[in-house]
Amino acid sequence: MAEPVIAVSPAPRARVRAMKEYHPPLGSRDAMRLDFNENTVACSPAVSRVLAQISAGALTRYPEREPVEAIIAAHLGVEAAQVALTNGVDEAIHVLFQAFLDAGDELLLPVPTYTMYEVYASATDAKIVAVQATNDFEFPFERLLAAITPRTKIIAIANPNSPVGSIATREQIVEIARRAPQAIILVDEAYFHFYGKTVLDLLGTLPNLVVARTFSKAYGLAGLRVGLLASSLENMRWIRRVLSPYSVNSVALACLPAALEDTAYLDNYIAEVLAARAKFESALDKIGIRRWPSRANFVLVEIGPRHGEFVRHMNAAGVLVRDRSSDPGCDGCVRITVGTREQMRRAAEVIEEAASTLDLNVRKIRGINA
Ligand SMILES: Cc1ncc(COP(=O)(O)O)c(C=O)c1O
Repeated sequence: MAEPVIAVSPAPRARVRAMKEYHPPLGSRDAMRLDFNENTVACSPAVSRVLAQISAGALTRYPEREPVEAIIAAHLGVEAAQVALTNGVDEAIHVLFQAFLDAGDELLLPVPTYTMYEVYASATDAKIVAVQATNDFEFPFERLLAAITPRTKIIAIANPNSPVGSIATREQIVEIARRAPQAIILVDEAYFHFYGKTVLDLLGTLPNLVVARTFSKAYGLAGLRVGLLASSLENMRWIRRVLSPYSVNSVALACLPAALEDTAYLDNYIAEVLAARAKFESALDKIGIRRWPSRANFVLVEIGPRHGEFVRHMNAAGVLVRDRSSDPGCDGCVRITVGTREQMRRAAEVIEEAASTLDLNVRKIRGINA
């Protein structure tokens, strides 16, 4: 007898039904990828050597994260149990929100910011309270303090923040942590290497502080998907309850020690990006495109009403950039990852071409940087 056809599918939770779909744009193989804030070259050759030696037998085993967590903790100067490796910072955000956000809790989110905070918070029963950046996209410190309530449970601060590259100062983070002792203060240091300042050393003094780091940016390992959370032993106990013991795969774990050891590779890449960012910023100023100061490996620029055509023009010329127009307060803005000086020289050339082809009349948009 044929199986009966069932016409209705089970309904997910109401919060999930209300979530927006998130489709990251697909990149073209041959293009210069300046749209995901990735490392634009390659990971350390020391990592490539490890990759080449991974045996088929090694892949039969479930990954063991603890020995690698101990190495990373020593590198960061904290106890091993204070660090949990995750499948990218994305999983770190997910597990943190799962562990701490309950119905009726509030997540304070300075916006614009990294999209996945909203995505993962939307899947919980907590309320998202967005706090808009100032007009010049600076960290909304005073507004954030004013938005803290007894229900505030997590405050998520990307530092430096994406898509702008702005920062919250150490003093501001300390003040926020003190004013919201009932809340987890997540400081997402995904772009730490390009900024150079951290609050990791405050873990001992601020019990509500949680710091996230990634290997996806400066280390050039986005494809391996590795990030981490560091916090007090107490917070980490709860976080580990909801973290899969196997979410960081064995290939990634095998590569991390080599990635950490090759400090020369890392220093070189960071220095290259910082030099390229300075040159690229001058090139933008010369073309007359408005930009915001950035402490990370990307620059947000204002293109104006023709932002969609601009992005298409750039893509057609082989340079992928990211339209951020739909981010809060970012109408007409495009984010451009900073790679090497050579790559950014080419990017600036294409931007200049696009500005003249599209007749962007950039200097007139707001009349600054002209
Ligand atoms: C602020 C911020 N945090 C986290 C991530 C994602 O990091 P991962 O690749 O480790 O998931 C990004 C990626 O763009 C980011 O901009």
